[in-house]
Amino acid sequence: MKILMVCLGNICRSPLAEGIMKHAVKEAGLDWETDSAGTGNWHVGDPPDRRSVRVAKNHGIDISRQVCRQFILNDFDTSDLILVMDKNNLGNVLALARNQQDKAKVKLFLGDKEVPDPYFNNAQFEQVFDLIETGCADVIKAYS
Ligand code: 4NP
Repeated sequence: MKILMVCLGNICRSPLAEGIMKHAVKEAGLDWETDSAGTGNWHVGDPPDRRSVRVAKNHGIDISRQVCRQFILNDFDTSDLILVMDKNNLGNVLALARNQQDKAKVKLFLGDKEVPDPYFNNAQFEQVFDLIETGCADVIKAYS
């Protein structure tokens, strides 16, 4: 199983989701692969936001070496499951889908809830970490 985590910037939420999912997958003894991307291109080539790096580190997960990249059409071919952090970006990704098969791979990560964008709210990173950690556990339960 190849999972792609998607948010807007690929510097706050989806890098955390990539790191947390990789950690949870390893703990569960699965051989899944996880990657992340953003629908926007502002931060391409950048490391994750230092606030995401810090909250991950506080929970024993190192995401500092990840590099931001933008979502590309080829991601529909190389991913089995594309998990999107909020409804805006779900719409952005679905708008790029070329066919029904692409669309079927795309889901809101938390089912019907959104992972809020913490970019302008320093205090929200811990809550975002917890939401993503729970979401990863639920995905592992659902697909393993
Ligand atoms: P992310 O957060 O989508 O969780 O990576 C954001 C990061 C950067 C911007 C917006 C959201 N931005 O506008 O630069």
